Amino acid sequence: MQEFGLFIDGRWMPSASGRTFDTTNPATGEVLAVFQQGNRDDVKRAVNAASGAVSKWRAFPAPKRGEVLLRAASIMRHRKEELGRLVTREMGKVIAEGKGDVQEAIDFLEYIAGEGRRLSGETTPSELPRKFCMTVRQPVGVVGLITPWNFPFAVPCWKLGPALIAGNTVVYKPASLTPFCAATLAGILEEAGLPPGVLNMVTGSAEEVGVPIVEDPDVKVVSFTGSVAAGRDVYTRASALLKRVGLEMGGKNPQIVLEDADLSLAVEGALFGAFGTAGQRCTATSRLILHQAIYDEMLGRLLSRTRALGIGDPLDPGIDVGPVCGEDQEKKILNFIEIGIKEGAGLIAGGKKLTGNFYDKGFFIEPTIFEARHGMRITKEEIFGPVLSVVKVHDYEEAVRVANDVEYGLSSSIYTNDVKLAFRAIDELEAGITYINAPTIGAEVHLPFGGVKNTGNGAREAGSTAIEEFTEIKTVFVDYSGVLQKAQIEQ
Ligand code: UN1
Repeated sequence: MQEFGLFIDGRWMPSASGRTFDTTNPATGEVLAVFQQGNRDDVKRAVNAASGAVSKWRAFPAPKRGEVLLRAASIMRHRKEELGRLVTREMGKVIAEGKGDVQEAIDFLEYIAGEGRRLSGETTPSELPRKFCMTVRQPVGVVGLITPWNFPFAVPCWKLGPALIAGNTVVYKPASLTPFCAATLAGILEEAGLPPGVLNMVTGSAEEVGVPIVEDPDVKVVSFTGSVAAGRDVYTRASALLKRVGLEMGGKNPQIVLEDADLSLAVEGALFGAFGTAGQRCTATSRLILHQAIYDEMLGRLLSRTRALGIGDPLDPGIDVGPVCGEDQEKKILNFIEIGIKEGAGLIAGGKKLTGNFYDKGFFIEPTIFEARHGMRITKEEIFGPVLSVVKVHDYEEAVRVANDVEYGLSSSIYTNDVKLAFRAIDELEAGITYINAPTIGAEVHLPFGGVKNTGNGAREAGSTAIEEFTEIKTVFVDYSGVLQKAQIEQ
């Protein structure tokens, strides 16, 4: 069995704890590799290595830093097939999506590498003669990155790319369900030429690794993607130390379908949005809000398409829905299905764990659809699984009211051919992302990604805003007049 160390100061090493844990395939139960159960001492070593590497890395010209990221992207491109299979084997998403995860990482690294030749600031005229005003972006120092299991290549790269291009060094804690992907990514960045100490990866639990990263005084910024409960804990601890924190958390993303919509398009969108990645995206469609005039027709079509979905081995390209990512995920999702039934929602598709033959060794849940009333827990709380709640509304206004009446605001979608209502929805839907005639999933990496309300704290990953989380702005005044000039006084 392959055993991976922690990656600290350019070397792979055992944990101070002497303990290990396994990563397994959620479709088959097969153990894939063994990882170190890191602890506070390991985090300290990682932070020390990262602190020691800051001055060299920030002095390395930004376009050269970009070349390292481009080399990493190119290695990933060459190995895309193999890496996609690794994502699928460790996380469980179907192979097309496993490769998509890797592609999203490549796309973003290529995009953000270009930031090495931009990292632009502002220049403005001065109010005084012979004086020059500008801003420059500087790295913050050591940053802590805590990433989830659902996008084990893409989301870490959303954080690593901007952190590194800006000249920071990193302590990285990957999710314990997908450390194989994380260690592979660290190895790729090492091979791409990242100097020792610039990236340090510590695997292990939230308590033993995550908390020490957040609390270490030398870690200046913490970027976290995960649940609201964990994000709140990160924020609370970090705020006491006055750290900057970027949070990317849950969603309860609605797809609205109005009476004039193209229903075939809306059905395909709902299927992909709700059951793609077995519903385990923070952007997944978990509510389908249907205008009463098309309710029966749309639901009928959706049901027959849902029943035809192939559930099984995610490495088989003919399969539509793979397993959910592990036992805890499965328990949580099945528990929500129970809650839906108890609340009196109409279970019209799926609802069960699949058993027998291939299914026995994995965590397979049928794509599930409830006819629900807005206000039920299944219409308000994030489930993070293949469970869709359908809610009937009377008009556009009610659709938007229902869509907005949740604590989250990540993604949202509306299907309509009425341009006036489409633009009103852009104004009125409380979400960081709104799609018109497209599903709630599938954001592109060169645009900002993030949410409002309890989905986040204002940070936007990806796109032109990605580096903001990882840079300080310095304002510079250069006075070349040769005399003392007094701003606000010499007018
Ligand atoms: C996530 O689920 O954390 O927009 C990220 C999407 C993907 C990213 C999802 N590009 O669905």
